[in-house]
Amino acid sequence: MREYRTGIGWDLHRLTPGRPLILGGVTVPSELGLEGHSDADVLSHAITDAVLGAAALGDIGMHFPDSDPRWAGADSLLFLRHALSLAAERGYRLVHVDATVILERPKLQDYRSAIREKLAATLGLDLDRVSVKFKTAEKLGPVGESRAAEAQAVVMLVGSQNRLGPGGCKPITC
Ligand code: C5P
Ligand code: MG
Repeated sequence: MREYRTGIGWDLHRLTPGRPLILGGVTVPSELGLEGHSDADVLSHAITDAVLGAAALGDIGMHFPDSDPRWAGADSLLFLRHALSLAAERGYRLVHVDATVILERPKLQDYRSAIREKLAATLGLDLDRVSVKFKTAEKLGPVGESRAAEAQAVVMLVGSQNRLGPGGCKPITC
């Protein structure tokens, strides 16, 4: 029997002048950008955590500590690819992604296609399996006051029928 697994991811980064706003690997023109050790792509981080979560492989900080100089300024799509390859090693393939970015401004709807296309190419998914939604926080709280941006993601992974569990046993006998 095929095994389906869901994963949830969430992230938040501060907004600050002098940094780029990178979402799903796409640079969006903005007065404020995201602060962080890597490129601070809050959307890619949330999706990465969702993939890791679905496969019970820990979280992004476990694999890419923000104390490690190797990840300074890193392209976060690399984290996403790595999470997918870890899941693939365990016999899991990504089925679809649904994500939400919560940001007061700028308006992101003009960038939806570019972000979906970039993520679909990175994730090896058809476009109709990549959903990206945008919301404001109605001027409330740190996100609403444009001090931060937040992202949430849900993914589904499917395990191949030949998937091996810990110790090399078939999941049904593990
Ligand atoms: O948050 P709110 O419900 O007012 O958002 C309305 C719409 O504006 C969203 O459905 C989304 O399409 C768009 N939006 C956007 N960029 C944002 C926030 C919202 O394009 N930063
Ligand atoms: Mg992050």
